[in-house]
Amino acid sequence: MNSPLNIADIRKDYKLAALDEETAGSDPLVFFSKWFSEAEAAQITEINAMTLATVDAQMQPHARIVLLKGLDNEGFVFFTNYDSAKGQEISACPQVALVFFWKELERQVRIEGFIGKIDEAESNAYFQSRPAGSRIGAWASPQSRKIAHRNILDLNYARYQEEFPDVDIPRPAHWGGYRVLPHHIEFWQGRTSRMHDRILFEKNESGLWIKHRLAP
Ligand SMILES: Cc1cc2nc3c(=O)[nH]c(=O)nc-3n(C[C@H](O)[C@H](O)[C@H](O)COP(=O)(O)O)c2cc1C
Repeated sequence: MNSPLNIADIRKDYKLAALDEETAGSDPLVFFSKWFSEAEAAQITEINAMTLATVDAQMQPHARIVLLKGLDNEGFVFFTNYDSAKGQEISACPQVALVFFWKELERQVRIEGFIGKIDEAESNAYFQSRPAGSRIGAWASPQSRKIAHRNILDLNYARYQEEFPDVDIPRPAHWGGYRVLPHHIEFWQGRTSRMHDRILFEKNESGLWIKHRLAP
């Protein structure tokens, strides 16, 4: 079938920058912060949006966007509903992948690692920093469940607004953060003629980061 959209003809040559081993340094989390700051300086919108891939008990992969909400020297933090589809997949298989794509800088970062829930105190602190509407939303939405009508959400929302009329809205136990502890982080910089730069950091058994260059 001929595509009426001419998708096959869409082509972009990447020529903004290069990436070498020396620039990438020795700590990929430090280098990630540098790239993140550069993405911020370039005023890229939604720079903290990342694809999260999980695998379910039948080995079926699932991917969706979530927002990075914290980065420390251990790993990458995001928040969600622990009872959601992704929460159940993470319980079945605590190994995930993350992907960032900052197209304006012609950069991709791929992260693979183990995932676990963050401390309750950390989840509470972040939950309380959210706008009241989002906090009510966390109570009102049984994330990933099949619902018969949009109306059900609106009724749930109204019910919890009534239950928590003040600003004091507690964090539901089913909502909180996860931290991805990386063992692989790859930095990709687009180059001309598809001869891209790829620098992979791999954590060895002693916990040291070993750097490799990969063919594009
Ligand atoms: C830009 C963007 C940001 C999102 N951020 C989050 C997030 O931080 N946490 C979250 O649970 N879902 C977020 N979502 C919604 C998820 O992509 C997804 O629809 C939801 O988490 C349910 O996924 P699941 O059914 O696989 O668990 C976001 C979606 C988009 C498009």
